Amino acid sequence: MVKLVVGNWKMNGVSAQLAELEKLVALFPRPQTDIVICPPATLMMAAIKIVDVGPIMIGGQDCHVEPSGAHTGDISALMIKDAGGKFVIVGHSERRENHNEDSHTVCAKSIAALKANLKVIVCVGETSHNVPVENAFADIKTLLDQSIPDRVMPQNLSIAYEPVWAIGTGKTPTIEDIAKMHSRIRRYLGERFRTDTANLFRILYGGSVNPKNAAAILNTRDVDGVLVGGASLKSDTFSEIIKAAEGIH
Ligand code: 13P
Repeated sequence: MVKLVVGNWKMNGVSAQLAELEKLVALFPRPQTDIVICPPATLMMAAIKIVDVGPIMIGGQDCHVEPSGAHTGDISALMIKDAGGKFVIVGHSERRENHNEDSHTVCAKSIAALKANLKVIVCVGETSHNVPVENAFADIKTLLDQSIPDRVMPQNLSIAYEPVWAIGTGKTPTIEDIAKMHSRIRRYLGERFRTDTANLFRILYGGSVNPKNAAAILNTRDVDGVLVGGASLKSDTFSEIIKAAEGIH
């Protein structure tokens, strides 16, 4: 499966930040991985111009459940699609926490994104640290049950497993725990959807991914890509992570 490497710039970057995207475009004219940058909404159109028709794709960090309407400050999946976006992240823990988004809303956002022909990345992650994977999975299962729509094509929906305690902290689960959780998520997908489609979903890991740990994480069984925050802001660090996904050392 082609790996998916996603940079989530979060609320970072004014126009000058686009120079980092220009460098990435120059560095990866023919990438062997799917590369997506999710800039803040203010930079989206400019970012889309920079990647042009090339292989690097642009995504949104969130979308509203409706295509349009009286929702001051929100943007819709349709708008992201219209701007030239290809992906959207939904259910990021920062949205869940800062904007009180529950999984039912996240599910409605996923449906809105799929309707708008965007590929969707649904984020799930446990808040408790130092608990065995089996216990953490109980939380993850509830999030997956409620956040993922019943009718999905695996090509159009990816899951990002982002333990909340690992985001922006420099801490990550052990490789063994990442492997266990990802394989547990894959088993869940096989049980919930058709068994033969479980392998077609891409399951990304996110939380303190950096150039040092990227290769080990990306070489882990059932890890089909990474969702990167801080280390995606600079092309030198993000390009190292892309190279790790491509097996370039
Ligand atoms: P960091 O890579 O900064 O830990 O952020 C992870 C994340 O939240 C990506 O969506």
